[in-house]
Amino acid sequence: MTDIDSTADGLRAAAPSGSASDAAPVRHAQWSSRLAFILAATGSAVGLGNIWKFPYITGEYGGGAFVLVYLACIAVIGIPIMMAEVALGRRGGQSPINTMRRILREDGRSRHWALIGWLGVAAAFLILTFYSVIGGWAVAYVVRAGGGAFSGASSDGIAALFSGLLASPGELLFWHGVFMALTVAVVARGVSGGLERATSILMPALFVILLVLVGYALASGHFSQGLRFLFSPDFSKIGVGGVLAALGHAFFTLSLGMGVMIAYGSYLPRGVSITRTAVSVSVMDTTVALLAGLAIFPLVYANGLEPSAGPGLVFKTLPLAFGQMPLGGLFGAAFFVLLVFAAWTSSISLLEPLVEWLEEHRGVRRGIAAAAAGIVAWVIGIASALSFNLWADVRPLGMFAAFADKGIFDLLDYLTANLMLPLVGLATAVFAGWVLSPRILEGELSEGRGHVFRLWRFLIRWVSPVAVAAVFWHNLG
Ligand code: TRP
Repeated sequence: MTDIDSTADGLRAAAPSGSASDAAPVRHAQWSSRLAFILAATGSAVGLGNIWKFPYITGEYGGGAFVLVYLACIAVIGIPIMMAEVALGRRGGQSPINTMRRILREDGRSRHWALIGWLGVAAAFLILTFYSVIGGWAVAYVVRAGGGAFSGASSDGIAALFSGLLASPGELLFWHGVFMALTVAVVARGVSGGLERATSILMPALFVILLVLVGYALASGHFSQGLRFLFSPDFSKIGVGGVLAALGHAFFTLSLGMGVMIAYGSYLPRGVSITRTAVSVSVMDTTVALLAGLAIFPLVYANGLEPSAGPGLVFKTLPLAFGQMPLGGLFGAAFFVLLVFAAWTSSISLLEPLVEWLEEHRGVRRGIAAAAAGIVAWVIGIASALSFNLWADVRPLGMFAAFADKGIFDLLDYLTANLMLPLVGLATAVFAGWVLSPRILEGELSEGRGHVFRLWRFLIRWVSPVAVAAVFWHNLG
Protein backbone atom coordinates (compact mmCIF):
# COMPACT_ATOMS: atom_id res chain seq x y z
CA MET A 1 0.00 0.00 0.00
CA THR A 2 2.58 2.48 1.13
CA ASP A 3 4.62 1.77 -1.93
CA ILE A 4 1.76 2.39 -4.31
CA ASP A 5 0.87 5.59 -2.52
CA SER A 6 4.35 6.97 -2.66
CA THR A 7 4.60 6.07 -6.32
CA ALA A 8 1.43 7.97 -7.01
CA ASP A 9 2.78 10.95 -5.09
CA GLY A 10 5.97 10.75 -7.04
CA LEU A 11 4.09 10.81 -10.30
CA ARG A 12 2.13 13.80 -9.19
CA ALA A 13 5.21 15.63 -8.04
CA ALA A 14 6.82 14.97 -11.37
CA ALA A 15 3.84 16.27 -13.31
CA PRO A 16 5.01 19.02 -15.62
CA SER A 17 2.65 21.80 -14.64
CA GLY A 18 4.25 21.93 -11.21
CA SER A 19 1.33 23.76 -9.65
CA ALA A 20 0.63 22.93 -6.03
CA SER A 21 -3.04 22.40 -6.82
CA ASP A 22 -2.28 19.21 -8.74
CA ALA A 23 -2.58 17.50 -5.37
CA ALA A 24 -6.37 17.63 -5.73
CA PRO A 25 -7.40 13.95 -5.93
CA VAL A 26 -10.74 14.15 -7.75
CA ARG A 27 -11.48 16.46 -10.63
CA HIS A 28 -14.52 16.25 -12.80
CA ALA A 29 -14.88 16.88 -16.51
CA GLN A 30 -13.62 20.10 -18.03
CA TRP A 31 -14.82 22.54 -20.64
CA SER A 32 -13.47 21.63 -24.03
CA SER A 33 -11.74 24.98 -24.34
CA ARG A 34 -11.45 28.50 -23.07
CA LEU A 35 -14.15 29.45 -25.55
CA ALA A 36 -16.58 26.92 -24.09
CA PHE A 37 -16.12 28.40 -20.63
CA ILE A 38 -16.50 31.92 -21.96
CA LEU A 39 -19.74 30.92 -23.70
CA ALA A 40 -21.20 29.30 -20.60
CA ALA A 41 -20.17 32.14 -18.30
CA THR A 42 -21.42 34.72 -20.78
CA GLY A 43 -24.65 32.76 -21.12
CA SER A 44 -25.15 33.03 -17.38
CA ALA A 45 -24.14 36.68 -17.23
CA VAL A 46 -26.05 38.02 -20.24
CA GLY A 47 -29.74 37.84 -19.53
CA LEU A 48 -32.70 39.89 -18.40
CA GLY A 49 -30.25 41.84 -16.24
CA ASN A 50 -28.73 43.42 -19.35
CA ILE A 51 -31.72 44.04 -21.57
CA TRP A 52 -34.58 44.44 -19.12
CA LYS A 53 -33.10 45.55 -15.80
CA PHE A 54 -30.14 47.73 -16.75
CA PRO A 55 -32.18 50.14 -18.93
CA TYR A 56 -35.04 50.48 -16.48
CA ILE A 57 -32.93 51.12 -13.37
CA THR A 58 -30.72 53.47 -15.37
CA GLY A 59 -33.92 55.31 -16.25
CA GLU A 60 -35.09 55.38 -12.65
CA TYR A 61 -31.80 56.72 -11.29
CA GLY A 62 -31.42 59.47 -13.84
CA GLY A 63 -28.96 58.12 -16.43
CA GLY A 64 -25.31 59.15 -16.86
CA ALA A 65 -24.11 59.23 -13.26
CA PHE A 66 -25.66 55.86 -12.59
CA VAL A 67 -24.03 54.37 -15.70
CA LEU A 68 -20.64 55.75 -14.67
CA VAL A 69 -20.87 54.30 -11.14
CA TYR A 70 -22.05 51.00 -12.61
CA LEU A 71 -19.08 50.84 -15.00
CA ALA A 72 -16.68 51.64 -12.16
CA CYS A 73 -18.22 48.87 -10.04
CA ILE A 74 -17.78 46.37 -12.86
CA ALA A 75 -14.12 47.32 -13.31
CA VAL A 76 -12.80 47.53 -9.76
CA ILE A 77 -15.22 45.30 -7.83
CA GLY A 78 -16.89 42.93 -10.29
CA ILE A 79 -13.87 41.76 -12.28
CA PRO A 80 -11.63 41.06 -9.23
CA ILE A 81 -14.44 39.15 -7.51
CA MET A 82 -15.19 37.20 -10.66
CA MET A 83 -11.50 36.28 -10.83
CA ALA A 84 -11.62 35.18 -7.19
CA GLU A 85 -14.67 32.99 -7.77
CA VAL A 86 -13.30 31.36 -10.92
CA ALA A 87 -9.92 30.80 -9.25
CA LEU A 88 -11.54 29.23 -6.18
CA GLY A 89 -13.58 27.01 -8.47
CA ARG A 90 -10.64 25.82 -10.53
CA ARG A 91 -8.56 25.31 -7.40
CA GLY A 92 -11.26 23.20 -5.71
CA GLY A 93 -12.60 21.43 -8.78
CA GLN A 94 -16.04 20.63 -7.31
CA SER A 95 -19.45 22.14 -6.63
CA PRO A 96 -19.27 25.49 -4.77
CA ILE A 97 -19.98 24.12 -1.31
CA ASN A 98 -17.53 21.22 -1.64
CA THR A 99 -14.95 23.46 -3.28
CA MET A 100 -15.13 25.82 -0.33
CA ARG A 101 -14.91 22.94 2.14
CA ARG A 102 -11.90 21.40 0.43
CA ILE A 103 -9.99 24.66 0.24
CA LEU A 104 -10.84 25.49 3.86
CA ARG A 105 -9.60 22.09 4.99
CA GLU A 106 -6.43 22.36 2.97
CA ASP A 107 -5.62 25.83 4.24
CA GLY A 108 -6.70 25.07 7.80
CA ARG A 109 -9.38 27.80 7.96
CA SER A 110 -12.69 27.91 9.81
CA ARG A 111 -15.42 25.80 8.24
CA HIS A 112 -17.82 28.67 8.69
CA TRP A 113 -16.58 30.29 5.49
CA ALA A 114 -18.49 27.59 3.61
CA LEU A 115 -21.52 29.73 4.48
CA ILE A 116 -20.59 31.70 1.35
CA GLY A 117 -21.65 28.67 -0.66
CA TRP A 118 -24.92 28.24 1.23
CA LEU A 119 -25.98 31.87 1.00
CA GLY A 120 -25.26 31.72 -2.69
CA VAL A 121 -27.58 28.78 -3.21
CA ALA A 122 -30.34 30.56 -1.29
CA ALA A 123 -29.93 33.84 -3.18
CA ALA A 124 -29.95 32.05 -6.53
CA PHE A 125 -33.19 30.29 -5.71
CA LEU A 126 -34.90 33.48 -4.54
CA ILE A 127 -33.83 35.31 -7.69
CA LEU A 128 -35.17 32.47 -9.82
CA THR A 129 -38.68 32.90 -8.34
CA PHE A 130 -39.12 36.38 -9.82
CA TYR A 131 -36.69 36.05 -12.72
CA SER A 132 -39.03 33.47 -14.19
CA VAL A 133 -41.99 35.86 -13.96
CA ILE A 134 -40.13 38.40 -16.10
CA GLY A 135 -38.88 35.63 -18.39
CA GLY A 136 -42.57 34.81 -18.83
CA TRP A 137 -43.28 38.36 -20.05
CA ALA A 138 -40.64 37.82 -22.73
CA VAL A 139 -42.24 34.52 -23.81
CA ALA A 140 -45.64 36.22 -23.99
CA TYR A 141 -44.12 38.92 -26.19
CA VAL A 142 -42.79 36.36 -28.69
CA VAL A 143 -46.41 35.41 -29.32
CA ARG A 144 -47.62 39.01 -29.45
CA ALA A 145 -44.88 40.04 -31.88
CA GLY A 146 -45.43 37.02 -34.10
CA GLY A 147 -49.18 37.71 -34.16
CA GLY A 148 -48.60 41.22 -35.50
CA ALA A 149 -49.82 42.96 -32.33
CA PHE A 150 -47.27 45.77 -32.65
CA SER A 151 -47.75 46.70 -36.26
CA GLY A 152 -48.65 50.34 -36.63
CA ALA A 153 -49.56 50.67 -32.94
CA SER A 154 -49.21 54.06 -31.24
CA SER A 155 -47.22 54.40 -28.02
CA ASP A 156 -50.54 54.38 -26.13
CA GLY A 157 -51.51 51.15 -27.86
CA ILE A 158 -48.19 49.54 -26.98
CA ALA A 159 -48.46 50.71 -23.37
CA ALA A 160 -51.99 49.31 -23.17
CA LEU A 161 -50.76 45.98 -24.49
CA PHE A 162 -48.26 45.80 -21.65
CA SER A 163 -50.66 46.86 -18.90
CA GLY A 164 -53.13 44.33 -20.28
CA LEU A 165 -50.60 41.58 -19.72
CA LEU A 166 -49.78 42.76 -16.19
CA ALA A 167 -53.46 43.03 -15.30
CA SER A 168 -54.12 39.38 -16.06
CA PRO A 169 -52.93 37.09 -13.23
CA GLY A 170 -53.88 33.97 -15.17
CA GLU A 171 -51.78 34.93 -18.16
CA LEU A 172 -48.80 35.93 -16.03
CA LEU A 173 -48.87 32.64 -14.13
CA PHE A 174 -49.19 30.67 -17.34
CA TRP A 175 -46.13 32.28 -18.97
CA HIS A 176 -44.23 32.12 -15.67
CA GLY A 177 -44.97 28.38 -15.76
CA VAL A 178 -43.80 28.04 -19.36
CA PHE A 179 -40.53 29.77 -18.59
CA MET A 180 -39.95 27.68 -15.46
CA ALA A 181 -40.68 24.50 -17.41
CA LEU A 182 -38.04 25.47 -19.99
CA THR A 183 -35.53 25.99 -17.19
CA VAL A 184 -36.36 22.69 -15.47
CA ALA A 185 -36.18 20.80 -18.78
CA VAL A 186 -32.54 21.74 -19.33
CA VAL A 187 -31.39 21.40 -15.72
CA ALA A 188 -33.06 17.99 -15.46
CA ARG A 189 -30.94 16.71 -18.35
CA GLY A 190 -27.73 18.21 -17.03
CA VAL A 191 -26.14 21.31 -18.46
CA SER A 192 -24.05 20.08 -21.36
CA GLY A 193 -23.30 19.87 -25.07
CA GLY A 194 -26.47 21.07 -26.77
CA LEU A 195 -26.69 24.18 -24.70
CA GLU A 196 -23.09 25.06 -25.36
CA ARG A 197 -23.63 24.86 -29.10
CA ALA A 198 -26.89 26.78 -29.04
CA THR A 199 -25.26 29.55 -27.02
CA SER A 200 -22.48 29.92 -29.54
CA ILE A 201 -25.04 30.71 -32.26
CA LEU A 202 -27.77 32.54 -30.41
CA MET A 203 -25.60 34.91 -28.38
CA PRO A 204 -24.02 36.43 -31.51
CA ALA A 205 -27.50 36.59 -33.07
CA LEU A 206 -28.77 38.61 -30.10
CA PHE A 207 -25.79 40.90 -30.53
CA VAL A 208 -26.60 41.45 -34.21
CA ILE A 209 -30.27 42.18 -33.60
CA LEU A 210 -29.32 44.68 -30.90
CA LEU A 211 -27.04 46.40 -33.42
CA VAL A 212 -29.97 46.59 -35.87
CA LEU A 213 -32.09 48.19 -33.14
CA VAL A 214 -29.36 50.68 -32.32
CA GLY A 215 -29.28 51.49 -36.05
CA TYR A 216 -33.01 52.08 -35.91
CA ALA A 217 -32.55 54.31 -32.87
CA LEU A 218 -29.90 56.25 -34.79
CA ALA A 219 -32.49 57.04 -37.41
CA SER A 220 -35.13 58.03 -34.87
CA GLY A 221 -33.91 61.61 -34.78
CA HIS A 222 -33.45 61.49 -31.01
CA PHE A 223 -30.23 59.49 -30.79
CA SER A 224 -28.17 62.30 -29.34
CA GLN A 225 -30.73 62.84 -26.60
CA GLY A 226 -30.53 59.17 -25.67
CA LEU A 227 -26.75 59.32 -25.79
CA ARG A 228 -26.70 62.31 -23.50
CA PHE A 229 -29.04 60.63 -21.04
CA LEU A 230 -26.79 57.58 -20.86
CA PHE A 231 -23.38 59.18 -20.81
CA SER A 232 -23.52 62.70 -19.48
CA PRO A 233 -23.38 62.33 -15.71
CA ASP A 234 -25.38 64.52 -13.38
CA PHE A 235 -24.47 63.39 -9.89
CA SER A 236 -27.31 65.30 -8.25
CA LYS A 237 -29.70 62.68 -9.66
CA ILE A 238 -28.21 59.47 -8.36
CA GLY A 239 -28.24 59.61 -4.53
CA VAL A 240 -26.92 56.92 -2.15
CA GLY A 241 -29.73 54.56 -3.15
CA GLY A 242 -28.60 54.81 -6.76
CA VAL A 243 -25.00 54.00 -5.86
CA LEU A 244 -26.16 50.88 -4.01
CA ALA A 245 -28.39 49.92 -6.94
CA ALA A 246 -25.44 50.33 -9.35
CA LEU A 247 -23.24 48.18 -7.12
CA GLY A 248 -25.91 45.52 -6.68
CA HIS A 249 -26.56 45.46 -10.39
CA ALA A 250 -22.86 44.95 -11.13
CA PHE A 251 -23.08 41.74 -9.09
CA PHE A 252 -26.42 40.74 -10.61
CA THR A 253 -25.42 41.24 -14.21
CA LEU A 254 -22.09 39.39 -13.85
CA SER A 255 -23.77 36.50 -11.96
CA LEU A 256 -21.52 37.11 -8.94
CA GLY A 257 -22.04 36.53 -5.26
CA MET A 258 -23.79 33.17 -5.62
CA GLY A 259 -21.16 30.63 -6.43
CA VAL A 260 -22.16 30.31 -10.08
CA MET A 261 -18.69 31.32 -11.21
CA ILE A 262 -17.16 28.95 -8.63
CA ALA A 263 -19.16 26.15 -10.21
CA TYR A 264 -18.26 27.14 -13.77
CA GLY A 265 -14.62 27.76 -12.84
CA SER A 266 -14.35 24.22 -11.58
CA TYR A 267 -14.64 23.05 -15.19
CA LEU A 268 -11.99 25.42 -16.52
CA PRO A 269 -8.86 23.72 -17.90
CA ARG A 270 -5.47 24.69 -16.49
CA GLY A 271 -3.36 26.98 -18.56
CA VAL A 272 -6.31 29.21 -19.44
CA SER A 273 -5.80 32.75 -18.19
CA ILE A 274 -8.47 33.56 -15.63
CA THR A 275 -7.72 37.27 -15.86
CA ARG A 276 -8.23 37.48 -19.61
CA THR A 277 -11.30 35.30 -19.39
CA ALA A 278 -12.96 37.35 -16.64
CA VAL A 279 -12.24 40.54 -18.54
CA SER A 280 -13.72 39.12 -21.78
CA VAL A 281 -16.91 37.97 -20.09
CA SER A 282 -17.35 41.31 -18.32
CA VAL A 283 -16.70 43.33 -21.45
CA MET A 284 -19.24 41.32 -23.46
CA ASP A 285 -21.81 41.58 -20.70
CA THR A 286 -21.36 45.34 -20.40
CA THR A 287 -21.46 45.80 -24.18
CA VAL A 288 -24.84 44.07 -24.41
CA ALA A 289 -26.25 46.25 -21.62
CA LEU A 290 -24.99 49.46 -23.21
CA LEU A 291 -26.34 48.44 -26.64
CA ALA A 292 -29.73 47.81 -25.06
CA GLY A 293 -29.59 51.28 -23.51
CA LEU A 294 -28.59 52.85 -26.85
CA ALA A 295 -31.50 51.11 -28.57
CA ILE A 296 -34.08 52.04 -25.94
CA PHE A 297 -33.48 55.61 -24.75
CA PRO A 298 -33.64 57.34 -28.15
CA LEU A 299 -37.04 55.62 -28.62
CA VAL A 300 -38.11 56.92 -25.20
CA TYR A 301 -37.47 60.48 -26.36
CA ALA A 302 -38.75 60.02 -29.89
CA ASN A 303 -42.11 58.86 -28.51
CA GLY A 304 -42.50 61.23 -25.59
CA LEU A 305 -42.16 58.47 -22.98
CA GLU A 306 -40.62 58.65 -19.52
CA PRO A 307 -37.13 57.16 -18.88
CA SER A 308 -38.35 56.26 -15.39
CA ALA A 309 -41.19 54.05 -16.65
CA GLY A 310 -40.00 51.17 -14.43
CA PRO A 311 -39.88 47.43 -15.13
CA GLY A 312 -42.05 47.76 -18.24
CA LEU A 313 -39.58 50.06 -20.03
CA VAL A 314 -38.23 47.55 -22.58
CA PHE A 315 -41.71 46.22 -23.30
CA LYS A 316 -43.10 49.68 -23.91
CA THR A 317 -40.31 50.96 -26.15
CA LEU A 318 -38.84 48.31 -28.45
CA PRO A 319 -42.26 47.11 -29.73
CA LEU A 320 -42.76 50.65 -31.05
CA ALA A 321 -39.74 50.15 -33.27
CA PHE A 322 -40.96 46.74 -34.39
CA GLY A 323 -44.37 48.19 -35.15
CA GLN A 324 -42.88 50.73 -37.53
CA MET A 325 -40.06 48.92 -39.33
CA PRO A 326 -40.54 46.73 -42.40
CA LEU A 327 -40.87 43.04 -41.44
CA GLY A 328 -41.28 44.27 -37.88
CA GLY A 329 -43.38 41.30 -36.83
CA LEU A 330 -40.62 38.93 -37.81
CA PHE A 331 -37.89 41.07 -36.27
CA GLY A 332 -39.90 41.52 -33.10
CA ALA A 333 -40.54 37.82 -32.72
CA ALA A 334 -36.84 37.10 -33.39
CA PHE A 335 -35.79 39.66 -30.79
CA PHE A 336 -38.04 38.25 -28.08
CA VAL A 337 -37.01 34.69 -28.90
CA LEU A 338 -33.41 35.71 -28.39
CA LEU A 339 -34.31 37.55 -25.19
CA VAL A 340 -36.03 34.42 -23.91
CA PHE A 341 -32.97 32.42 -24.81
CA ALA A 342 -30.63 34.83 -23.01
CA ALA A 343 -32.87 34.68 -19.95
CA TRP A 344 -33.01 30.92 -20.22
CA THR A 345 -29.22 30.41 -20.16
CA SER A 346 -29.21 32.61 -17.04
CA SER A 347 -32.11 30.97 -15.22
CA ILE A 348 -30.43 27.59 -15.70
CA SER A 349 -27.50 28.89 -13.69
CA LEU A 350 -29.93 30.03 -11.00
CA LEU A 351 -31.57 26.62 -10.58
CA GLU A 352 -28.44 24.52 -11.04
CA PRO A 353 -26.74 25.19 -7.65
CA LEU A 354 -29.71 23.91 -5.61
CA VAL A 355 -30.23 20.89 -7.84
CA GLU A 356 -26.55 20.04 -7.68
CA TRP A 357 -26.71 20.21 -3.90
CA LEU A 358 -29.86 18.05 -3.68
CA GLU A 359 -28.16 15.52 -5.92
CA GLU A 360 -24.80 15.45 -4.11
CA HIS A 361 -25.97 15.63 -0.51
CA ARG A 362 -29.46 14.28 -0.44
CA GLY A 363 -29.13 11.63 -3.12
CA VAL A 364 -32.16 12.95 -4.98
CA ARG A 365 -32.24 12.03 -8.66
CA ARG A 366 -31.44 15.00 -10.87
CA GLY A 367 -34.71 14.98 -12.80
CA ILE A 368 -36.78 14.85 -9.63
CA ALA A 369 -34.66 17.47 -7.87
CA ALA A 370 -35.01 19.84 -10.83
CA ALA A 371 -38.77 19.35 -11.11
CA ALA A 372 -39.37 19.72 -7.37
CA ALA A 373 -37.20 22.82 -7.06
CA GLY A 374 -38.85 24.28 -10.17
CA ILE A 375 -42.35 23.75 -8.80
CA VAL A 376 -41.47 25.32 -5.44
CA ALA A 377 -39.86 28.28 -7.24
CA TRP A 378 -42.95 28.63 -9.44
CA VAL A 379 -45.25 28.66 -6.40
CA ILE A 380 -43.15 31.26 -4.57
CA GLY A 381 -43.03 33.24 -7.83
CA ILE A 382 -46.83 33.54 -7.76
CA ALA A 383 -46.43 36.23 -5.10
CA SER A 384 -44.23 38.29 -7.43
CA ALA A 385 -46.62 37.81 -10.37
CA LEU A 386 -49.62 38.90 -8.29
CA SER A 387 -47.75 41.94 -6.99
CA PHE A 388 -48.32 43.43 -10.48
CA ASN A 389 -52.11 43.14 -10.15
CA LEU A 390 -54.21 41.62 -7.33
CA TRP A 391 -51.60 42.25 -4.63
CA ALA A 392 -50.31 45.51 -6.04
CA ASP A 393 -50.89 47.26 -2.72
CA VAL A 394 -49.32 44.65 -0.48
CA ARG A 395 -46.28 46.06 1.34
CA PRO A 396 -44.76 43.14 3.31
CA LEU A 397 -42.20 45.34 5.09
CA GLY A 398 -44.33 48.48 5.10
CA MET A 399 -43.58 49.07 8.78
CA PHE A 400 -40.01 50.06 7.89
CA ALA A 401 -39.70 53.48 6.31
CA ALA A 402 -37.05 52.24 3.88
CA PHE A 403 -39.40 49.62 2.44
CA ALA A 404 -42.67 51.52 2.73
CA ASP A 405 -43.14 51.80 -1.04
CA LYS A 406 -41.88 48.36 -2.03
CA GLY A 407 -44.30 45.67 -3.20
CA ILE A 408 -43.45 41.97 -3.18
CA PHE A 409 -41.55 41.95 -6.46
CA ASP A 410 -39.59 45.12 -5.63
CA LEU A 411 -38.75 43.76 -2.22
CA LEU A 412 -37.41 40.43 -3.48
CA ASP A 413 -35.41 42.21 -6.14
CA TYR A 414 -34.01 44.60 -3.53
CA LEU A 415 -33.19 41.96 -0.93
CA THR A 416 -31.36 39.73 -3.40
CA ALA A 417 -29.61 42.15 -5.75
CA ASN A 418 -28.94 45.02 -3.36
CA LEU A 419 -28.27 43.10 -0.14
CA MET A 420 -27.50 39.40 -0.54
CA LEU A 421 -25.27 39.55 -3.62
CA PRO A 422 -23.08 42.43 -2.41
CA LEU A 423 -22.85 40.86 1.08
CA VAL A 424 -21.75 37.49 -0.27
CA GLY A 425 -19.43 39.36 -2.65
CA LEU A 426 -17.94 41.26 0.30
CA ALA A 427 -17.45 37.99 2.17
CA THR A 428 -15.81 36.45 -0.90
CA ALA A 429 -13.43 39.40 -1.21
CA VAL A 430 -12.51 39.31 2.49
CA PHE A 431 -12.06 35.57 2.30
CA ALA A 432 -9.92 35.57 -0.85
CA GLY A 433 -7.94 38.67 0.09
CA TRP A 434 -7.46 38.40 3.84
CA VAL A 435 -8.25 34.93 5.14
CA LEU A 436 -6.86 32.55 2.56
CA SER A 437 -3.07 32.11 2.33
CA PRO A 438 -1.94 33.92 -0.83
CA ARG A 439 -0.20 30.78 -2.13
CA ILE A 440 -3.57 29.01 -2.54
CA LEU A 441 -4.76 31.23 -5.38
CA GLU A 442 -1.42 32.52 -6.62
CA GLY A 443 -0.92 29.50 -8.89
CA GLU A 444 -4.34 30.15 -10.44
CA LEU A 445 -3.97 33.86 -11.01
CA SER A 446 -0.33 34.81 -11.50
CA GLU A 447 0.19 33.14 -14.90
CA GLY A 448 3.89 33.65 -14.52
CA ARG A 449 3.40 37.40 -14.34
CA GLY A 450 3.58 38.49 -10.73
CA HIS A 451 2.22 41.97 -11.37
CA VAL A 452 -1.19 40.61 -12.44
CA PHE A 453 -1.49 38.76 -9.16
CA ARG A 454 -0.30 41.76 -7.16
CA LEU A 455 -2.80 44.07 -8.84
CA TRP A 456 -5.62 41.59 -8.26
CA ARG A 457 -4.57 41.17 -4.64
CA PHE A 458 -4.54 44.91 -4.08
CA LEU A 459 -8.04 45.26 -5.56
CA ILE A 460 -9.51 42.32 -3.68
CA ARG A 461 -7.99 43.36 -0.34
CA TRP A 462 -8.48 47.09 -0.41
CA VAL A 463 -10.73 48.31 -3.18
CA SER A 464 -13.59 45.80 -3.46
CA PRO A 465 -14.33 45.25 0.25
CA VAL A 466 -13.87 48.89 1.22
CA ALA A 467 -16.11 50.10 -1.59
CA VAL A 468 -18.87 47.59 -0.83
CA ALA A 469 -18.69 48.33 2.91
CA ALA A 470 -18.76 52.09 2.29
CA VAL A 471 -21.84 51.85 0.09
CA PHE A 472 -23.64 49.76 2.70
CA TRP A 473 -22.63 52.14 5.46
CA HIS A 474 -24.03 55.15 3.61
CA ASN A 475 -27.29 53.35 2.92
CA LEU A 476 -27.77 52.45 6.57
CA GLY A 477 -27.00 55.99 7.67
N1 TRP B 1 -26.68 37.60 -14.71
C1 TRP B 1 -28.02 37.24 -15.07
C2 TRP B 1 -28.69 38.42 -15.75
O1 TRP B 1 -28.09 39.46 -15.86
C3 TRP B 1 -28.83 36.80 -13.88
C4 TRP B 1 -28.16 35.72 -13.14
C5 TRP B 1 -27.92 34.45 -13.57
C6 TRP B 1 -27.52 35.85 -11.90
N2 TRP B 1 -27.18 33.78 -12.65
C7 TRP B 1 -26.91 34.61 -11.63
C8 TRP B 1 -27.39 36.90 -11.00
C9 TRP B 1 -26.17 34.43 -10.48
C10 TRP B 1 -26.66 36.71 -9.83
C11 TRP B 1 -26.04 35.51 -9.60
O2 TRP B 1 -29.79 38.34 -16.19
